[in-house]
Amino acid sequence: MKIKACLFDLDGVVVDTARYHYIAWKKIAEDLGFHFSENDNERLKGVSRMDSLDILLTIGKVTLKQDQKELLADKKNNLYVSYISRMTPDEILPGVISFLDELRNNKILIALGSASKNAMTILDLINLTQKFDAVIDGNKVSLAKPDPEVFLKGASELGINPNSCLVFEDAQAGIDAARNAGMHVIGVGHAENLKNAEFIIPGFENMNFDRLRSLYL
Ligand code: BG6
Ligand code: MG
Repeated sequence: MKIKACLFDLDGVVVDTARYHYIAWKKIAEDLGFHFSENDNERLKGVSRMDSLDILLTIGKVTLKQDQKELLADKKNNLYVSYISRMTPDEILPGVISFLDELRNNKILIALGSASKNAMTILDLINLTQKFDAVIDGNKVSLAKPDPEVFLKGASELGINPNSCLVFEDAQAGIDAARNAGMHVIGVGHAENLKNAEFIIPGFENMNFDRLRSLYL
């Protein structure tokens, strides 16, 4: 098989934290006096915290100074951290654990490639840290997706060539980052938000090693 390593985004792929990010940003928007729709939120998926704030402020046509922006980003993160603090392994998306276990049993290496600075907290809360051979998160990279840095660092920590890596992503910025890294990529979610993915799956419920092998012989 062409694939020697799988790299997973976290938010919206392994767990449904995309929902918590959305309600935290929605609260910030409401406090600033504008509505922030779920459709608008697609533009924030996979994007770093400060870049997300800039997009949010553009949508609301609000201009702020750098120190005000930093306060707002902290406020959003405090809200988000309070929402995720009660997460449990029950919130791991269906099929994820068995797919990770099958990959390991078939000697495929596994990495996390997330823009989030809260990734380790979440992995610990949902008891999944041990399933990853490498974890690259928002604390380890300086360039946000669609820059390929997060995935290239993952491949390098695993010691695998980018062209033997497969990324699972729920966000357009993440699909673009994987492509920019020269990796294979499967979109998780709806096709309209995942242009340029090689394949699209709705989730991991029907994903297994045999299916992977048939896609990447
Ligand atoms: C990504 C999310 O995984 O992490 C984005 O898709 C989020 O919505 C980004 O903005 C940064 O996360 P955090 O937890 O560091 O604010
Ligand atoms: Mg995501």
